[in-house]
Amino acid sequence: MTKKRKQPVRGLEGVVAAETFLSHVDGANGKLYYRGYDIDQLAGRACYEEIVYLLWFGELPDAEQLDSFRAELVAEMRLPEQVSELLRLSPPNANPMVVLRTAVSALGMFDPDGGKNTEQANLRKAKRILAQVATIVTSLYRMRSGQSTVSADKDMGFAENFLYMLSGKTPRKIEREVFDTTLLLHADHGLAASTFAARTTVSTLAGMHSAISSALASLKGPLHGGANRKVMEMLEEIGDADRVAPYIEGMLGTGQRIMGFGHRMYKTEDPRSRHLRKFSNKLCSRAGCDQLYEISQKIEALVLERKGINPNVDFYSATVQSALGIPKEYYTCIFAVARTAGWIAHVMEQFHDNRLIRPSSTYMGGFDRKFVPLAKRSAPAGAS
Ligand code: ACO
Repeated sequence: MTKKRKQPVRGLEGVVAAETFLSHVDGANGKLYYRGYDIDQLAGRACYEEIVYLLWFGELPDAEQLDSFRAELVAEMRLPEQVSELLRLSPPNANPMVVLRTAVSALGMFDPDGGKNTEQANLRKAKRILAQVATIVTSLYRMRSGQSTVSADKDMGFAENFLYMLSGKTPRKIEREVFDTTLLLHADHGLAASTFAARTTVSTLAGMHSAISSALASLKGPLHGGANRKVMEMLEEIGDADRVAPYIEGMLGTGQRIMGFGHRMYKTEDPRSRHLRKFSNKLCSRAGCDQLYEISQKIEALVLERKGINPNVDFYSATVQSALGIPKEYYTCIFAVARTAGWIAHVMEQFHDNRLIRPSSTYMGGFDRKFVPLAKRSAPAGAS
């Protein structure tokens, strides 16, 4: 009797691969919760550092805890000289996400807690990695644009420091607030592909730097965090609101995907995109790029009408970042800066109750093939 073959679940859709206390995506109702708090309650009322603290320690900090946590993070916003040198040596046209992934991997070699996986060592590494990821991105941008790097200011918070280290100027209140909330909205999102990659990596007891490098590698792809950059390329290519219909119809007609739309979890509106749409509208009109917002709105209406698909977090984050003066090559890096908090929280949770993540596959190949020694092999027909 032949044994019935187990069917794999394509893309692991619907497979529950972990228990988590960190975040919950309610895809049917378009809700996202961080440790039980609806993000609609947090956005605009809490700052990014409060959310990092919430994810890592389980509770929102009081004022004193927040001050000292923020000071600790800002104090870690510097890089080992060797890693700065690595950024300088990177080819000028290398994708910044590739440089970021490589630099985080390199940081692991210089971290004083490098090989240690104790709870205390992981907490020290967590603060350093989160802070240093931000500094890698701002430093790379400044080096590539021929400007000297800017050190963090101890009187500024995380988001403000990021914009300051990027532009060399103290950001305006609205820029600081919008960027802070943008980071907050990207901080964690259940078992996203990158988060799963991070958890899988540490399930072998590899360290935190390895996990964040794996997560960065996964985030880079256009079906995940790489979509925000692709969204801006599409908006620029369309260029005019009147060209939206033929462009999008052309893409849909040839079976192409519209970047920034659709989501494995959400069957309704992504709650993060609601906040980002509002910011996009506000910032684009201040920055004189209403055209981009107008094009985005038309795309949204058309894709919804034609495919019933809503924008995801990446769609309006593109115009928000553009209006903040961030070049499109860095959009996915900004996502990474924010999500590093979530990845780290998942890494610590995985370590806390670890079991090796090792699924199986259904073998589709043949059996009992006869080995032919090299000298007697001839190329199969058609191979060159
Ligand atoms: N444009 C056009 N059609 C789409 C899109 C899209 N962006 N997304 C999904 N669809 C269609 C598919 O063609 C498919 O249609 P079919 O059933 O007629 O073949 C149907 O919707 C379901 O698509 P799947 O690929 O099965 O959905 P899945 O859950 O695997 O994909 C994904 C989710 C990868 C995000 C997809 O929606 C996509 O490719 N979006 C564009 C890339 C993007 O924006 N990625 C960022 C996601 S958010 C994030 O990672 C932070």
